[in-house]
Amino acid sequence: MIKFNRAAVAVLIIFMVMSILAGCGNKAASTQPKQEQVAQSSENQSFQQSDATSQNSGEEDIVQKIKSSGKLVIATSADYPPYEFHDISGGKDEIVGFDIDIAKAIAKELGVELEIKDMAFDGVLPALLSKKVDLAIAAFTITEERKKSVNFSDPYLDGGQQIVTYKGSSIKGKEDLKGKTIGVQLGTTGEAEAKKIEGAKLKQFDRVDAVMLDLMNKRIDAAIVGKVVADAYIKLNPDKYELAGDKLNSEQNGIPIRKEDTKLLEVVNKVLKDLKDSGEYEKLVQKWFVDFKPAEKK
Ligand code: ARG
Repeated sequence: MIKFNRAAVAVLIIFMVMSILAGCGNKAASTQPKQEQVAQSSENQSFQQSDATSQNSGEEDIVQKIKSSGKLVIATSADYPPYEFHDISGGKDEIVGFDIDIAKAIAKELGVELEIKDMAFDGVLPALLSKKVDLAIAAFTITEERKKSVNFSDPYLDGGQQIVTYKGSSIKGKEDLKGKTIGVQLGTTGEAEAKKIEGAKLKQFDRVDAVMLDLMNKRIDAAIVGKVVADAYIKLNPDKYELAGDKLNSEQNGIPIRKEDTKLLEVVNKVLKDLKDSGEYEKLVQKWFVDFKPAEKK
């Protein structure tokens, strides 16, 4: 069984406070990257060997561009454990998570380093579309609306949005949210779900850790986040949060890619398929969604 101790709670609180401090400032500034982090890929040649076809066109496509720059630059919003979050338990601040391991696998396939830009979630797609980054990986739900501006990889995880409350709250489901304040992250499907709840008030945040800190301090009545994210926050702070009712919807996560970057889409889908075929994907699910215990990692 997973055990959580006071250190785990302390780490989460530090993590929240740090993220909130990082999130201070105006809206324009909040879409700027707050942290860059580089992970060294261990193997450099793997993609070259398996990728004879994409050399054929002779044009400088995105895959070639990434390879010649030597790095894959991704945008994320590292406030969403266990998908992507800051792990400070080992004394250094590192962005880790399920999505980050997938990003590392993509970088490895391309034979390049991974560089992570952490920003507010509602700045992630704009960063992708304006070519500030090559890829976005941030627990994105595949939606029709988003498909108008980007392509998505094959779905890599099923999920859904969930109401979370503080421990001991009288809210047991969405029918109890009339006249109550729901905290949501700007631009998310959680925000869209909250807007559907009649009579509820919305409080919008750049970062999910700020939502959860407000909830912990009872400044809001509930939050709507991904179910597995709610589970992660509860694992970290079982005496602070609880779920209210069932999942509000069903969603699938995908990796958004610029429409013109079809070769990169092929690479990403190949990586997802290879991870599944090799059994590596199941290991990642086990690592991040079952065994997840942040305070003791590393
Ligand atoms: N799945 C939701 C969406 O696509 C929320 C994603 C939030 N991601 C994050 N890294 N904060 O809208």
